[in-house]
Amino acid sequence: MRIYDIIDKKRHSLPLTKEEIEFAINGYMNEDIADYQMSALLMAICINGMNDEETLNLTDAMLKSGKALDLSCFDNLSVDKHSTGGVGDKTTLIVAPIVASLGLKVAKMSGRGLGFTGGTIDKLESLGKFSTSLSQSKFLNQVDRIGVCVIGQSDSLVPADKKLYALRDVTATVESIPLIASSIMSKKLASGAKSIVLDIKIGNGAFMKDLESGIALANAMIKIGNGFGRNVRCVLTNMNVPLGFAVGNSLEVYEAIQALSGKGEKRLLEIARALSSNMVSMGLGIDNEKAYQMVDEAISSGRALIKLKEWVIAQGGDVKYINNPELLLRAKHKEEYVAKESGYISSISARGVGIASMLLGAGRVKKTDKIDHLAGIVLEKSYGDYVEKGKVIATLYSQDKGLFPGSRSILTNAITYSQAKPDDEKLIFDIIS
Ligand code: URA
Repeated sequence: MRIYDIIDKKRHSLPLTKEEIEFAINGYMNEDIADYQMSALLMAICINGMNDEETLNLTDAMLKSGKALDLSCFDNLSVDKHSTGGVGDKTTLIVAPIVASLGLKVAKMSGRGLGFTGGTIDKLESLGKFSTSLSQSKFLNQVDRIGVCVIGQSDSLVPADKKLYALRDVTATVESIPLIASSIMSKKLASGAKSIVLDIKIGNGAFMKDLESGIALANAMIKIGNGFGRNVRCVLTNMNVPLGFAVGNSLEVYEAIQALSGKGEKRLLEIARALSSNMVSMGLGIDNEKAYQMVDEAISSGRALIKLKEWVIAQGGDVKYINNPELLLRAKHKEEYVAKESGYISSISARGVGIASMLLGAGRVKKTDKIDHLAGIVLEKSYGDYVEKGKVIATLYSQDKGLFPGSRSILTNAITYSQAKPDDEKLIFDIIS
């Protein structure tokens, strides 16, 4: 078999066999296949796509490049969630303790933020000495004991994804449904959960810009999951506007604590409830209505908040932030951002707010950049709200005053005003299983 022939076959839009896909992935991992050859194959896949069988075989080959976690000791109770990435998306911090407080087992690996999107690991590291690198035995032990543990991606799971993603990132081959589906699902399968809820973000602040491509990605990931005997549900959610009011790591932790204390922003709470109840319904094998009731009870009784405290203590974080979340708001500098016109906010781009927050120090331009956990933006007003010229729309936080002007000008371009109240935007487009 020759990689040249495999590239040529895909260039002519012909389906690749399981053996050919394995040959390409294994050869790339052991360095028999060069970056330029893999780049050509990825570009051919990007342009000509892959059928369901090829996508399944690609996922399998990537999965086999590393180890997989065995969560069979938790039976059907192991559940996982994944978001395709967005702005202000702090749902894992809300969903994981809710679900764990209801007896389910959340053994989760999360990522760090890059560009305008945030990552759960950075948010958790706002909580003092919260440790996100634990040995496998400590990780599983904690899940068994308290029902939840979240750590960073282990290098031993799906090393092929790490190598391929780095190449895709610099060869304009990220945006391909079979490549995204196999990348995400190989990691989810290796993480071992029996049931997986995928939050597929759609809009200007997400990978998927329209509903049609979101549905195509959902279907591809469900087919992969089912092919490996896992239950998968996809919740397709709006990412045109930041989720909740806070964007930036410790600011988002603050908002998540508020949500678990029953004071959550409406849209954030609605998505967190939808994700949690789908995880509960799959993990416990109950209908969604009953699962919703259990989720609401976990929040209103304070049970989920207690679980968050247990979780923070177990991973070495400082529980004083949960007991007194105001302590999370201590950035050295803050500045108010005011409305440029009177009117309704007719758009407040998630992407724009994400970039404005990144420029305050809350995010990374490059993977190796350091971040400021206290930096970010808290919106006072959002889509559809009426504002008067000169009144506060947002507060900007940073450790470096010099970063305010750049962030402010991005924010100005991210917000538009109208005299008529804009139509409500749908928050959850669809749930597919
Ligand atoms: N997230 C991933 O993990 N992989 C992709 O290819 C895209 C988003």
